[in-house]
Amino acid sequence: MKFFTTILAIGLFAGTSLAQDAPVQTAHVTLRSEGDDHSYPLTVPADGKPVLTHSTLPIALIDAPDFNVLQACVIETPGAKNLSSTIAADGVTQQVVIDPPQAVTSISCQGTCVETYGACFDTNGQYVGACCNGLCIASRCRPWNIGQQS
Ligand SMILES: *[C@@H]1O[C@H](CO)[C@@H](O)[C@H](O)[C@H]1NC(C)=O
Repeated sequence: MKFFTTILAIGLFAGTSLAQDAPVQTAHVTLRSEGDDHSYPLTVPADGKPVLTHSTLPIALIDAPDFNVLQACVIETPGAKNLSSTIAADGVTQQVVIDPPQAVTSISCQGTCVETYGACFDTNGQYVGACCNGLCIASRCRPWNIGQQS
């Protein structure tokens, strides 16, 4: 019995430490040129390490369907730029606008975000985090287009 209790205690302890080490999220982005004659995907783990693009294609838009790239990522370019956000023609996919369009040398991302329909506030009313691709309304992350439907 004592043996069993010990095993159980170790199990609970391991479970706790696992929960604190949340897995690193990954941003799956698509970099689009002006006129969208070319585009390429990039997978960026949100571990703070820059992922090089190895591309000189001038980029005007970056699709960011599963990470809040504008707030939580650093987009490196050779020149000065202004970044803003827009929503793609599908009404759902958030995009980062690069003005003026230019090559992207690397992207690094950090932190975590809450998936669509996930809780952005927990049951105690504590803020969980920013939405990956949408708005926090009534404690849940909702798609961007929810406001346009009414
Ligand atoms: C960024 O926007 C500001 C304000 O509109 C403008 O003055 C500046 O020239 C812009 N910078 C670039 C690199 O486009």
